[in-house]
Amino acid sequence: MATAVLGLQWGDEGKGKITHVLARDAEMVVRFNGGPNAGHTVIDRGVKFGTHLIPAGAFYPGTVSVLAGGMVIDLEVLRQEIDEISAHLGSVPELLIAENAHLILPYHRILEEVEGSGAHFGTTRRGIGPAYRDKAAHVGVRVGDLLRPDDLENRLEHRLSLLKRIWPNSDEIGSLTASCLRVELLGLAEPLIESVGDAAAAVASALAEGKDVLFEGAQGALLDVDHGTYPYVTSSPTTFAGLGNSIGIPAPDVRRRIGIAKAYTTRVGEGPFPTEIEGALGDELRDRGGEFGVTTGRPRRCGWLDLVALRHALFVNGATEIALTKLDVLTGIDEIKLCRAYLLDGERVERFPLSAEVLSRCAPIYETVAGWSAAPAEAKRLEDLPAEAIEFVARIEEETGVSVGIVSLGPAPEETIHREL
Ligand code: IMP
Repeated sequence: MATAVLGLQWGDEGKGKITHVLARDAEMVVRFNGGPNAGHTVIDRGVKFGTHLIPAGAFYPGTVSVLAGGMVIDLEVLRQEIDEISAHLGSVPELLIAENAHLILPYHRILEEVEGSGAHFGTTRRGIGPAYRDKAAHVGVRVGDLLRPDDLENRLEHRLSLLKRIWPNSDEIGSLTASCLRVELLGLAEPLIESVGDAAAAVASALAEGKDVLFEGAQGALLDVDHGTYPYVTSSPTTFAGLGNSIGIPAPDVRRRIGIAKAYTTRVGEGPFPTEIEGALGDELRDRGGEFGVTTGRPRRCGWLDLVALRHALFVNGATEIALTKLDVLTGIDEIKLCRAYLLDGERVERFPLSAEVLSRCAPIYETVAGWSAAPAEAKRLEDLPAEAIEFVARIEEETGVSVGIVSLGPAPEETIHREL
């Protein structure tokens, strides 16, 4: 059976934990979008990891981890991550790296600084936007180019000559040469070359054979390049709508599409956030939830759960169920708010506006629900939780029309309720 794990907010929903829990039964785990902008927290046998590129399947020997064509890959980060996971496991994870995935190159990170996208949009400054832009502009360098070193150098030469014309005063760009980059990239890629291949074909045949395949989304629906709060978004599709295209399989048959939402909302980087809580309560939520970026260490902006945004995210993902994470973080808060609609220019709005400018003028209309004083992390059934927490989950289901199939009560795999739907 195929399952997808997809973020429903602005990333950081807890996809790492949920994928890691579900990957135990998977034969193949596939990351289909983004790059090292992602930071998925995984606790494997008591050891905490922040993974950036490698899907959570890598923690289970025998499971194939696929880095699919829609990704942008930084070889340095990948090598480091492989080393860390291999040291933990005592063996090297089995990887398949799509030959049509694009490479993040040193000049992509430099461009984020010289063009100011890092500062303007609060990007992760990992070169994501410039790498995807090169891909669309025919000047990207792909993983498969590593198999043909002369082509690789020609492509680097072409791209660098254009960059040097556009940025004649950048010493950092000026100092790069295609021949040095070629040597550097081939050195980093050397142990990975055997793992490069046709990921779309491998995923398609795993699905056709009825294998358990898990798709691990990165970022979240509200950061999707088309369906998020543009321009304050990442540069790839992040939703189920984009999954087939990113991998190269039309309309993949993924019956279980789990949308992950935190019991509240966070955002890193710039952009509108109607339910943001300023002041002491926002700070408290950040501290309780450990809301600091795994990739950049930046403090995350915190706010209440936004059901308007959640309905939009569930729709673009065709989500069949919700996994509600970090419910424990709300424990001890007397009154919890749920945003049911927005007030826009004096009118009540229930549909999520796609314009960031319009969204920035939306004020939340809240419903207040009672909090709870304890949520035992060892609970195994929803019924083991206090009545107020059960009611909170029920309100989310009523307002979205989608059932909550998983409730996460802590970072460890055991701190999870799985419900029969
Ligand atoms: P980029 O993906 O680095 O280009 O950043 C674009 C926006 O997406 C910024 O607001 C980032 O903070 C945000 N972003 C990208 N990846 C993640 C993620 O994995 N979690 C949370 N936010 C992210």
